[in-house]
Amino acid sequence: MRKHQIELQINGKAIAREIEPRLSLTDFLRGEQGLSGTHIGCEHGVCGACSILLDGVPIRSCLMLAVQADGHALTTVEGLTQDDGSPGLLQAAFQDAHGMQCGYCTPGMIISAQALLVDNDDPSLEQIKDAIGGNICRCTGYVQVIESIQLAASRMREAHL
Ligand code: FES
Ligand code: FES
Repeated sequence: MRKHQIELQINGKAIAREIEPRLSLTDFLRGEQGLSGTHIGCEHGVCGACSILLDGVPIRSCLMLAVQADGHALTTVEGLTQDDGSPGLLQAAFQDAHGMQCGYCTPGMIISAQALLVDNDDPSLEQIKDAIGGNICRCTGYVQVIESIQLAASRMREAHL
């Protein structure tokens, strides 16, 4: 099969690759880029485990082909760490408020929360529920997920004071 050249940014790093046109974006991130924080759940757009940011907007990477990401800037959960590799603000809040059980949904939850908080560091409960409404937690730990996002938001506000 003829390969396609793509050029994109992933977590701030410029990447150029030749790939098969049928390769999903999830498989490209995990298999070709080693970014295994993007999880595979349903593979048909329902669970949100594969969520990433495309030009700052949360999308489901299982529903996109990697060739469609050509020319775009992607952020995966690995891109939300601090420069020294330690947990970023949202990741630390999920740790501190016990926002994960098995952790399978967690990267997708964090990506959705990032998209919310980048524009709004004082979200209402309804806004948080709406932001993570497309992310399924099979452990059903939604209360702690919401508390984690509230903690992250309060830390953001403190940092902005
Ligand atoms: S794996 Fe993509 S939405 Fe479930
Ligand atoms: S923590 Fe297990 S799926 Fe959400």
